[in-house]
Amino acid sequence: MKKNVDYLLSKKQAHQKIIALTCYDYPTAILEDKAGVDVIFVGDSVGTNILGYENETQVTMDDIVHHLKAVNRGVKDSFILADLPYNSYQTPEQALGNAKRLVANGADCVKLEGLRPEIVTQLVKHNIPTCGHLGLQPQHHSVKAVHGKKFEQAKEIIQAALNLEKSGIFMLVLELVPEELAQIVTNELKIPTIGIGSGRYNDGQVLIVNDILGVTPRKFRLAKKYEDFQTLTLKTIEKYAQDVAGNIFPTEENLRHMPDEELKALQQWLQKNYISFGMD
Ligand code: KIV
Repeated sequence: MKKNVDYLLSKKQAHQKIIALTCYDYPTAILEDKAGVDVIFVGDSVGTNILGYENETQVTMDDIVHHLKAVNRGVKDSFILADLPYNSYQTPEQALGNAKRLVANGADCVKLEGLRPEIVTQLVKHNIPTCGHLGLQPQHHSVKAVHGKKFEQAKEIIQAALNLEKSGIFMLVLELVPEELAQIVTNELKIPTIGIGSGRYNDGQVLIVNDILGVTPRKFRLAKKYEDFQTLTLKTIEKYAQDVAGNIFPTEENLRHMPDEELKALQQWLQKNYISFGMD
C-alpha cells in the first residue's frame, strides 16, 4: 500500500523508526521499494553523487525532474520526497510553480532548506506536503560542519523547527546537528524528524544510497558503508575488458546462428553478385 503523511506520523506516534534513503534511478527505486524503505529522497545530493557536480548549488529543477521521473517509475509503496533545488524557491510564487512541477512528475512531497515560513505556508495552502531541512543546509552552507553545538545556534535551530512546524511542515530533516539537540527537537515536535549525521534519537534516519553501497571511495563519519560496490564494479569492468581484449567474450552461449539453409542461400546470393565472402 502506498505510504503517506499519516502513515509517517503514525510511525512517530508508535515509536517505530522511519526508514529513508536517497535514490536517483529506476532499478534502485525498485529495490528500495521492495526493501520497505518508507521515504525515498530524490535529493539534490544527485548533483555530487551522480552528475559529477561540484556542489548542490549546480542542481537544477530539470535535473531533479529527470531523476524523479525515473524513480517514480520504479516505486509502488514508498513515499517519494523531492528536493526543491537551489534558487527554485526564492518567492512563494516561484516555489509553488516548481513544487507543482515536482508533484506532477511523481513527488508525494517536496523539501526545502532553512527557515522559510512564507514558502511553507504557500505550499501547504495548495495541499503540497512540505518537509523542512535544518542544521547543515547543503544548498546554503559551503562548509560541511556540525550546526548547533553552541547554545545560541542550538536555540535558533529549536525555534526554527517550532516555527516551521507551526507553518505546516509535516516532517523535518535534521542534518549534522549534535545528538542532544536532535533529541530535544524530536521531543518538542509532533511531526517526525529524520536525521542524517544527527544521532540516534530522531524519528527516522536517511542516508545517501551511494554511501551505504560504497559506490564512492569517500568514507563519511555520518554514514555506514555496508558494501564495497566501488571495488566490485571496478573488478567486474576489468574482467569484462580482459575478456573482450582476449577474445574470451562472447562465447557460443552468448550468440545466435543462422539456420544452415538460410546461410547457404545468402552465400549463393553473394557469389552471384561478385561479392567475395571469406566463409566456406
Ligand atoms: O539531498 C539530499 O539527498 C538530502 C538528504 C540526504 C537529507 O537532502
